[in-house]
Amino acid sequence: MKKRDILVLIGGLVILTILWMAPDETTKHLPKDTIHQKFYSIVHKDGKKAAEKFCQDCHNKEQMPFPENHPPKFRCIFCHKLDN
Ligand code: HEC
Ligand code: HEC
Repeated sequence: MKKRDILVLIGGLVILTILWMAPDETTKHLPKDTIHQKFYSIVHKDGKKAAEKFCQDCHNKEQMPFPENHPPKFRCIFCHKLDN
């Protein structure tokens, strides 16, 4: 193999690795239904923190338990992104 071919190969591997390490985009988005619609307005008006205050009114141990392996819940909308 020529030196140039090896460099091209390494470059390709680096790009693949970066793509592979990108954040998990499969985490469910904040639903855009009648329940959650108002949080879209709050986020757009007052920011994510303002909206996140309300999530655990419903999403809590008593009413709607989280999946057992749910990660730490500090900022809901940091992970459960808006559908634009
Ligand atoms: C008034 C009660 C209520 C509040 C407040 C609420 N949710 Fe929900 N949430 C629900 C219900 C009911 C469901 C299940 C039905 C559905 O998908 O709408 C749900 C489902 C979800 C799901 C799963 C969607 C799926 O595809 O399975 C996510 C993620 C979620 N909520 C995030 C949030 C976040 C983040 C907030 C705060 C910004 C929030 N919810 C505030 C009631 C609520
Ligand atoms: C560090 C990232 C992170 C944060 C912060 C976070 N979540 Fe999650 N959440 C996840 C992951 C990963 C799952 C696993 C299932 C999935 O892919 O949606 C999940 C699952 C859920 C589900 C169940 C969805 C289903 O499968 O039906 C709900 C509801 C939910 N989260 C609500 C919340 C709420 C409300 C908050 C804030 C109090 C929150 N999450 C904060 C990452 C996060």
